[in-house]
Order: sequence, then C-alpha cells, then structure tokens
Amino acid sequence: MEKAPAKINLSLAVLGKRPDGYHDLETVFVSLDLSDTLYFSDAPRGEITLACTASEIPLGMENLVCRAADLLRKKYGITKGVHIRLEKHIPAAAGLGGGSSDAAAALRGLVRFWGIDAAARDMPAVAARLGSDVPFCLRGGTALGEGRGERLTPLSPCPDFHVVLANPGFGVSTAKVYQAYPQGTARPRTRTTELIRALRLGDRRQLVLYLENNLEAVTFQLYPQVGQLKEKMSAWGPSLMCGSGATVFTLFEDREKARALCLSLREEGIAAWLTKTAGEAKEGDADA
Ligand code: C5P
Repeated sequence: MEKAPAKINLSLAVLGKRPDGYHDLETVFVSLDLSDTLYFSDAPRGEITLACTASEIPLGMENLVCRAADLLRKKYGITKGVHIRLEKHIPAAAGLGGGSSDAAAALRGLVRFWGIDAAARDMPAVAARLGSDVPFCLRGGTALGEGRGERLTPLSPCPDFHVVLANPGFGVSTAKVYQAYPQGTARPRTRTTELIRALRLGDRRQLVLYLENNLEAVTFQLYPQVGQLKEKMSAWGPSLMCGSGATVFTLFEDREKARALCLSLREEGIAAWLTKTAGEAKEGDADA
C-alpha cells in the first residue's frame, strides 16, 4: 500500500519559455493530507494492469501509473507483472498533482514490490521522465522547484494550515494553459525569496502575503468561473489557484472557519474538500 498525497503550489512564477517547449519555473510545492491510495498485487500472467475507483480515469498506458510501471520494468529488466488498484480521492486534472503523485507512489511501491536493488536506483531521473511534478511527489513535503519544476531544493516544512479546496467541477489541460501564457521578454521579479524566508521563520502571517501564481490570469481568461470562485473564496481568507487550475485553495489557521467555508461552498453546489498541509517530507526509500 502506498499513499499518494495531493500538492499545492504556494508560488508558481513562470520565468520564460524554453527551446524544448516547456517553461522555466520557480515554484514552492507543499504536500497535502488529501491522498489517493495504491495497492499492489501479483498479476497472474505477468502483465501490468490497473483498476480504479473513479470511472473517468483511463486504465491504459495513457495513465501515468502504468507508464511508471512500464518504465521501471524496462529500465531494470523486470519480468514480473503487477496489478495496481488505485483508490482515487484527489480530483483529476485539477492542479493538485493527482496523476503525478499516483505515478510517484507507483515508483515507490514498485521498488519494494519488485525488490529493485537500492544501489541501482535512480528514481528522481525516472520520475522526471514521467512529468515535471513527479520528482517532487516522490518525496513530498515542502520544496522549491526550478527548471521545469523537477530540480528540487528541500525547504523548511510549511507550517500547519487547514486548507479548503474547491473547483467548478471541470478539469483544465495544463498544456493548454501554458500554451496561452503570454511570452514576455523580461524575466519577472518573483517574491519567492520572501516566501522562503517566511517558511524558514514558520511565520504564517508573512507567508500568506507572498502567495502568487502567474498562471491565474491565463486560466481565469480561459475559464472565468475559476476567477469568480477565487474571488468568492478570497472573502474568507488568503486564496490562490492550484497549479494550472481549476482548483482554488484557501488557507486557514482556524479549523472551524475552514469548515464553515467548505460547508458554505457545498451548500451552493460547489465541489469542496477540507484538508491540511503536510509540509514534512517523508524519508522514503525511493529517492536513494
Ligand atoms: O511535465 P508535464 O507532462 O506535467 O507537463 C504537461 C504540459 O504542461 C507540458 O506538455 C507543457 O506543455 C506544459 N508545461 C510547461 N512548462 C512546465 C511544465 C509543464 O510548459 N514547467
């Protein structure tokens, strides 16, 4: 069994477009308590099979979990198969890194399940091939991501916040949002240094002053409901869009206030979740 926690980005600054089509980022990731769960069992005929509790999740090679298993098998010459059952709690295509975290959890779980030699492991490199957020999801906690987001520096654990997540009920294509990102020439000044200082001091009040996400303007233009949702949630507390959207989060020190927002959104028919930050990295065995 392996937990796959969701993530939010306390900051996501787009620095510019790269020749390979990706964008250089400066982003601060934090894991959440909200998690999917993966279960591993033998596949009788040595194949890779996936079952999922959510019907909208694809079960073939387009699923990052299957791709992770396939990559590992090829890289380490594994002949055994696996059946993976994915219990889905994180909404899909929501900016919460659900697919990336499932892939990272598959890597962690399969290293154990298939008994891959620790000395031979290079999990961060395998993770980076699967997606820009997968290396962060391998260890979780609180980290600065640079490059595509895959070059990581661990940061002081994010102090505890109660987190309300809500989205307008549709997914957003990350590629589409980045494609629509206006190409500027000047490298923007980011506030990441101030955010990192607030993390180091464990200063919640300072920290919330430095929340930023450069993708918001693009997503709000493409999907005005996301901007409207952020406006609504901002009346309750510091709020920001997750990744490329469409989920918006609000941070609270007080659980009762967080609960009140969550209930109020649900009363309006908006999908909402109440969770917490999980800023401490788990010292797993997959990043050796
Ligand atoms: O790396 P991942 O597969 O998650 O990225 C999905 C898409 O998001 C990429 O194909 C790319 O269009 C865009 N992207 C980007 N710059 C990043 C990360 C993602 O342009 N740093």
